Amino acid sequence: IPVEQFDLIIFGGTGDLAKRKILPGLYRRFLSGQIPEGSRIIGAARSEHGVEEFRDIVRSAIAEHVAPDKHDDDAISGFLNSLEYVTIDALGTGGWKELAALMRPSVVRAFYFSVGPSLFGAIAERLKKYKVTDDESRIVVEKPFGHDLPTAKALNETLSRHFTEQQIYRIDHYLGKETVQNLMAVRFANMLFEPLWNARNIDHIQITVAETVGVGGRGEYYDKSGAIRDMVQNHLMQLLCLIAMEPPYAFDPDALRDEKLKVIRALEPVEPDDIVRGQYLGDDEGPSYLEDCGNPSSLTESYVALKVRVSNWRWKGAPFYLRTGKRMRARSSEIAIVFKDPPHSIFGDQAGQNPNVLVIRLQPNEGMNLTVTIKEPGPGGIRLIEVPLDMTFKEALGAEADDIPDAYERLIMDVIRGNQTLFMRGDEVEAAWAWTDPIIAQVEDRANRPKPYEPGSSGPEESLILMHRDGRRWREVK
Ligand code: BG6
Repeated sequence: IPVEQFDLIIFGGTGDLAKRKILPGLYRRFLSGQIPEGSRIIGAARSEHGVEEFRDIVRSAIAEHVAPDKHDDDAISGFLNSLEYVTIDALGTGGWKELAALMRPSVVRAFYFSVGPSLFGAIAERLKKYKVTDDESRIVVEKPFGHDLPTAKALNETLSRHFTEQQIYRIDHYLGKETVQNLMAVRFANMLFEPLWNARNIDHIQITVAETVGVGGRGEYYDKSGAIRDMVQNHLMQLLCLIAMEPPYAFDPDALRDEKLKVIRALEPVEPDDIVRGQYLGDDEGPSYLEDCGNPSSLTESYVALKVRVSNWRWKGAPFYLRTGKRMRARSSEIAIVFKDPPHSIFGDQAGQNPNVLVIRLQPNEGMNLTVTIKEPGPGGIRLIEVPLDMTFKEALGAEADDIPDAYERLIMDVIRGNQTLFMRGDEVEAAWAWTDPIIAQVEDRANRPKPYEPGSSGPEESLILMHRDGRRWREVK
């Protein structure tokens, strides 16, 4: 879908996120013809670069972060030609007048704050003061959106002093993932699932976001955050909301966000026994968490598993088990909806061992898989076996599956379109912190050392107990 001509200004335009995600993503959109002629991408950062130097930086970022089959010389030079650069002092006066002078009337303006949250206020204020923005301008802010509820509230207040809620796009890049959006299509565009989507038919839900990377390189940031702040408060919470929410009346920003907010408000406080935290050990392939974060006495978790209860009519009795960690066995993110056993077996003992499980694979091998019990073909009585009804995107869509845009590409294009559906509203972020703050406080109060786990494993042994004591088990991380 085409978008209007735009100017996208990236504060932190030479930073890590810009080089890894934002600029390569924009290049891929350019290559696919989605960026209209005359649109400009303006890098804004503290370093004194000329535009040619900035173009060289972006050329290297494309070489490094875009798949080689998408390196097209003509497209690269076309894309680089759309780039501009302004040296700017976020906390001072330098560069702001120059930036204002670059702005054009009747072109969509979006300002991407790809900088630390401590600069959000200063940039927002200067954008207004130097009249760089107009009433239609949008600002895009990255996580972490605060460190806890008070800091998130303060950030919301600061931004709302200069911009309306309709102008603020808070990114949670998980919402831009193809399979995450597909979750809503599966639930609300089919008749098959929704009538069963409740605690009467569903035993429990598992949400796993396992990563193989450690925190090396960003240990200092990570150690102040930990898995609960870095992943649960935002990405896992969003996944939980999309699974648990009531059908919104339309795929409309406020309709959707209202429903997500109701889920967050229905979350029960997490009991101390329902949390397991871990820290990875070292091996031949890499240092331990304690070495990676540079703090030998750190109590921060690189893994967390939680049992979460949603206290409402739909979900009472069907818990959500969440887990996420670094340096685990595989990079594997999935949501598994584990259905209950049939109420009565006409096949004797064999039935009821393997309930239906709907697995939504978020990454890699995006797709869906539904386990169904059938009769094993052959003579001699009924023997039940479990078979998967498999729908990987690759198989279903063929080559098209390779062209699925990355989360950032899609979200940036949504900003240009002015569509806030996949962005978080201020009250939603605050509600998410209001739920995670007590969990973090409880963990900090008890000052328990996170349990060590082997790198390449599926987390600490203790996380198994979380499930076993409820007569359930985690799916294998693979
Ligand atoms: C980020 C976290 O938000 O998400 C990182 O800060 C994490 O710690 C990353 O690695 C995971 O994103 P993805 O898209 O690779 O699953």
